[in-house]
Amino acid sequence: MLAQKNIEVNNNLKIGKLELDNPIFLAPMAGVTDHSYRVIAREMGAGVVYTEFVSSNGIIRENQKTFDLASFTDSERPIGIQVFGDDHVVVGESAKMLYDRLQPDIIDINFGCPVPKVTKRGAGSGALKDLDVMQEITSAVLDAVPEIPITVKMRSGIDKNSIVSTEAAIRLEKIGVSAITLHPRTMKQQYTGFADWSLIKEMKDSVQIPIIGNGDIQNADDAMRMFNETGCDAIMIARGSLGNPWIFRSIKNKLTGKTDTPPTLSDRIQMCRRHFELLKSHKYEKVCVNLTKKHLNWYLKGFAGASDWRKKFMVTKTIEDIDKLLKELFIEFSVK
Ligand SMILES: Cc1cc2nc3c(=O)[nH]c(=O)nc-3n(C[C@H](O)[C@H](O)[C@H](O)COP(=O)(O)O)c2cc1C
Repeated sequence: MLAQKNIEVNNNLKIGKLELDNPIFLAPMAGVTDHSYRVIAREMGAGVVYTEFVSSNGIIRENQKTFDLASFTDSERPIGIQVFGDDHVVVGESAKMLYDRLQPDIIDINFGCPVPKVTKRGAGSGALKDLDVMQEITSAVLDAVPEIPITVKMRSGIDKNSIVSTEAAIRLEKIGVSAITLHPRTMKQQYTGFADWSLIKEMKDSVQIPIIGNGDIQNADDAMRMFNETGCDAIMIARGSLGNPWIFRSIKNKLTGKTDTPPTLSDRIQMCRRHFELLKSHKYEKVCVNLTKKHLNWYLKGFAGASDWRKKFMVTKTIEDIDKLLKELFIEFSVK
């Protein structure tokens, strides 16, 4: 057990048979948690990382772009691939294809996405309208891939008058799901208001399988509060890691009682280069440039002149432009 004040955190966390190093997970984020982001998160101490959600239809049609989104390297393990879809046969088949070809450590099913394009057909959080549908999709994946843990990530319900998270957890545990992540906002809420952590506690108190608490963790203190208030087995972080992969290290340090040193400006600038190099090695130029700009916008904050540097990076067009500007940034702040 890792102990911090009155917090008892399970340091021997297991999801199914998968043993984990620590209970701090990187959340799936579409357009963000690609290979480069996941490598950095693991290096900074994330216990598990996830791909962004991938379309089960894309997988069974052998769409190369969809497979690329699900692909990973061994340095990222343990890793979960997240799938979404509305047709249980298709989702089950896609999970089997993903397992056979890529051998992830976990397959996670998305019942959380609130985007109308996804939900209107009953995928993502649309499945929370009818728990029989959710169960059917989940059973299909459990049957198709008995070899590894199958997990679910969900919202609390469609709206505040139809909260179903605890009932869903009881049903999902019965059919063999290995863990559940709860982001306790409703589909209607999208990202407004607050995540209602009391629903994480309610879920944790209702089932035996590990519950992963998610929503509104921005720093190590929030993480401690999440463990404390909900009793969850692990936590999952999405937006709090944007431009701040050090959050994983910081929480780990807090849990183990070690002193935490926040990243210096030098660390942030070096991370810009590291992230750019990782993107360069895995993406075509146009995609690499666009993604580098997006991430540098998050990294380059909170110091004098930051917004000018962000503006300069925003108008870059090529890898060479970014490379040159990064060199100038290193010189300006005497970074080695
Ligand atoms: C840019 C972005 C993309 C996301 N994509 C996914 C996704 O592909 N699958 C998923 O389950 N959740 C996705 N989410 C939701 C997050 O995983 C997480 O549940 C939510 O942001 C709440 O956690 P946070 O408060 O730590 O950000 C996404 C969130 C963001 C901000």
